[in-house]
Amino acid sequence: MAASGRVAIVTGASSGMGEGITRDLVSKGWKVAMADIQPNAELARELGDRAEFYMCNVADYDSQAEMFQKVWDKHGRIDALCANAGIVDRSSVFIFDYRGSDKIPPKPDLLCTDVDYKGVVYGTQLAIHFMRKNKTPGGRIIATASLNFVRATARVLKIKENITINTVLPGIVHTNIIPQAMIDALTIFGLTPISTIISAYNKFLDDDSFIGEAIECSAEKHFFVGRPEYANGDISKRAVTVWDPLFKKYHHEPSELPDAIP
Ligand SMILES: NC(=O)c1ccc[n+]([C@@H]2O[C@H](COP(=O)([O-])OP(=O)(O)OC[C@H]3O[C@@H](n4cnc5c(N)ncnc54)[C@H](O)[C@@H]3O)[C@@H](O)[C@H]2O)c1
Repeated sequence: MAASGRVAIVTGASSGMGEGITRDLVSKGWKVAMADIQPNAELARELGDRAEFYMCNVADYDSQAEMFQKVWDKHGRIDALCANAGIVDRSSVFIFDYRGSDKIPPKPDLLCTDVDYKGVVYGTQLAIHFMRKNKTPGGRIIATASLNFVRATARVLKIKENITINTVLPGIVHTNIIPQAMIDALTIFGLTPISTIISAYNKFLDDDSFIGEAIECSAEKHFFVGRPEYANGDISKRAVTVWDPLFKKYHHEPSELPDAIP
């Protein structure tokens, strides 16, 4: 994908991998919309008019919609969404502290699901909406993780919208999300540098033949993650193949997948 004039939204751009992806895209001539819940004024100043910051909470659909609309109004195109923002778990489903207690444990804090998963789903839907309006309809969506969502949506998005969606799986990367003590403990086993993440993103940005693929980043290496075998051959396969009448019921048009069951 030739970069000149292209516009990318990078969520979680203020820190870590998002910052790295933003710097890389800017260096290649992309205009980058840095969407984050916390500003990084120094980075925005450094990148000048090649990138602009948008305050955005990816866990809030309206907040993402407002950000997408502003980016569209400013540039009239959105070529790529790097759906990278994320946090770590906020509560323990094991509730060890409640052993022996008669009190009902508190509701789990699922903010991590809201940010890391729902944020990707919201962003994908909004990207589809705006990428349809590009002069040449289509674009690229790359998510950090959310493997099953990416696999489930990829073929229909490519056939119907000329959008590729793929995912980058990071390994352990030294960013603000990982406590320093954990980094210290794991360094001897080898961490994954941000450059491995950036080059994985670039693979998916540069080549539209990848559809629903996942790259596991491990140290300096990329590994394409294979798909599990069907446990019971064609019978298992049929259980996960699109049945077009149901697809049509939900989505109001057929899937156009060549192997869909009519
Ligand atoms: N670092 C790792 O080892 C590792 C491993 C696996 C997955 N990940 C994932 O990689 C992605 C990038 O993380 P990182 O390691 O660069 O961490 P980071 O903390 O350095 O960066 C994450 C960025 O996301 C932003 N963010 C958090 N919540 C947000 C929200 N609701 N809306 C908008 N922005 C929000 C933060 O402000 C921050 O700038 C995340 O999705 C994370 O879950 C990281």
